[in-house]
Amino acid sequence: MKLFVDTAEIDAIAELNELGMVDGVTTNPSLILKSGRDILEVTREICALIDGPVSAEVVATDAQAMIAEGRKLAEIAPNIAVKVPLTWDGLRACKVLTGEGRMVNVTLCFSVNQAILAAKAGATFVSPFIGRLDDINLDGMELIADIRAVYDNYGFDTQILAASIRSVNHIAESARIGADVVTAPPAVIKAMAAHPLTDKGLAAFMADWAKTGQKIL
Ligand code: G3P
Repeated sequence: MKLFVDTAEIDAIAELNELGMVDGVTTNPSLILKSGRDILEVTREICALIDGPVSAEVVATDAQAMIAEGRKLAEIAPNIAVKVPLTWDGLRACKVLTGEGRMVNVTLCFSVNQAILAAKAGATFVSPFIGRLDDINLDGMELIADIRAVYDNYGFDTQILAASIRSVNHIAESARIGADVVTAPPAVIKAMAAHPLTDKGLAAFMADWAKTGQKIL
């Protein structure tokens, strides 16, 4: 499973990238606002920082303008994946942009039917939003499982990019189901390493080691 970082914060990406934990980055208009940066500048910096796909989202809502924005974003770097919303205009833009050999991430996916259309439009990635479904008492993980089953039924190439990740459980369950990618905030990725029994066991090792009176160096 590939792990993408869901942020436009350069320092957070760099920190995880140094550990080999960054297979890609996803951004969206809200994350750009949060970064306080210019979209073209910060996206260019991210693309130079990592080798994997960097999703940059169009902000137009009609197909022709999406296509124009997508072409401009794709010019930033070869590893740009143009993000378009799962609307008919977004699907049209996806078809044109993938037809031009560009990577496209179709986002704001909330149903299997939407995911089928994204695959048929040639999307490189589809981003089902787990957390936002959970927020309204629907089962976000069930959507990931259903999309995985349908894509496998028909051999769709589109990669399932599990998004709107709110917990380490979302990451583990997405991996169990077989999502191709998970994109998560830096804090959730960091939380993957935490376990109280690890802390407890390490403390016990250190206490016993201190009793040996030994040193390694
Ligand atoms: O990549 C999509 C992600 O940023 C959305 O997450 O928590 O705003 O639903 P959230």
